[in-house]
Amino acid sequence: MYSYLVTGAAGFIGANYLKHILKKHDNITVAVLDKLTYAGNLGTIAGEIKDPRVTFYKGDIGNEELVSHIFLTHGITHVVNFAAESHVDRSIENPQIFLETNILGTQTLLECAVHAWKTGRDGQGYPTYRTGVKFLQVSTDEVYGSLAQTYPEGRDHEEFGTIFGADFFTEDTPLDPHSPYSASKASADLLVQSYADTFHLPVNITRCSNNYGPCHFPEKLIPLMIKNVLEGKKLPVYGDGRNVRDWLYVEDHARAIDLVVQKGRPGEVYNVGGHNEAQNITIVKLIISTVARLMEENPAYQQVLTTDHAHINESLITFVQDRLGHDARYAIDPAKIKKELGWYPETSFEVGIEKTIRWYLENQKWVREVVSGDYQHYYESMY
Ligand code: NAD
Ligand code: DAU
Repeated sequence: MYSYLVTGAAGFIGANYLKHILKKHDNITVAVLDKLTYAGNLGTIAGEIKDPRVTFYKGDIGNEELVSHIFLTHGITHVVNFAAESHVDRSIENPQIFLETNILGTQTLLECAVHAWKTGRDGQGYPTYRTGVKFLQVSTDEVYGSLAQTYPEGRDHEEFGTIFGADFFTEDTPLDPHSPYSASKASADLLVQSYADTFHLPVNITRCSNNYGPCHFPEKLIPLMIKNVLEGKKLPVYGDGRNVRDWLYVEDHARAIDLVVQKGRPGEVYNVGGHNEAQNITIVKLIISTVARLMEENPAYQQVLTTDHAHINESLITFVQDRLGHDARYAIDPAKIKKELGWYPETSFEVGIEKTIRWYLENQKWVREVVSGDYQHYYESMY
């Protein structure tokens, strides 16, 4: 049996990962640690926390006493750290909490891991660890900064699979974060690497591109646009809408993390992405046309609308002030994880986006629950 500590599992990717590993592995127990911030919703993992293999702790990854208690109580063998403040716009408004959670919180987990797993010292004075131990830090492609967008010059290009520049992020791309969020994630990555170098802690870092899919908090581009289309609200597109992101269905990311936990070589970084670049404006137009089509195909979906379905068209698009320091293009080279671990994305964007939109249409209660409270005040203060 292995004993996992999964942090941030009430959030978007952590929840999808928790569902994946509980289905896939019989030989695990899971302690979930989540602070339940505005982005953490216990309802997302209501079924999973009833599973006798799962113990839920509401708390902060920076709470050393609590984290040590979890390590000791459960004999943790694997840590998968999703917990983070994850929204770039919020990091521009209020960076402090990003430093506290993403940097200091990660350092607390690392410190507890070193103490909990140490069995002695080797001939050179380095700590030795119990076997089966692993620390996986879930990081992001944003730590690499931004790539040049050279194609097609200054135009919209709506074909999926278009490559917008000659360069890609590889694991050797130097860290060059631009936002307080990405700077905090890069700092955490450096700390994780320092614990590998200093204490020989068996770590991995995964750096994934933009995720989309079910249970995505509706402040991020795709779920926000879906929600606003259904409500007949304006669709705020930053700048000229030509910034490029590289989209991956969340279950493909969950599978990649699971593979790295099982088979990743200690100390290694793995980039995760599916060569699915698109300009933001293309994504927004695709959401509008897909929602409109689903409404026509299945009139029962029209009950979800708080607007007339005739109003679902591109006139909802509103170009607004650009994000400060807005990165132009992200694009991952996933060659290493494909070659070493045999990972590949299973869900095309066309299939994934329709599944995602259907999920939101069929889970309006979830949407209502997560947007009440803090998020509502935040959203209202922004627009
Ligand atoms: P999210 O904001 O949806 O969820 C974050 C979760 O962490 C929430 O459940 C929240 O309650 C919890 N949390 C926040 N602060 C905490 C603290 N101090 N202690 C304990 N729990 C805390 O985020 P997400 O989109 O699921 O991202 C998860 C991880 O994946 C993050 O580390 C993020 O940097 C990384 N990542 C995200 C993407 C993406 O596209 N969303 C892509 C690559 C990497
Ligand atoms: O690349 C991985 C990262 O992807 C993760 O590390 C982050 O946690 C995650 O939030 C995401 O960051 P982005 O900033 O790329 O995602 P976001 O959904 O906020 O924005 C995607 C693009 O859409 C970006 O170019 C900004 C733009 N945008 C976003 C919002 C919310 C808009 O044009 N309008 C919007 O209202």
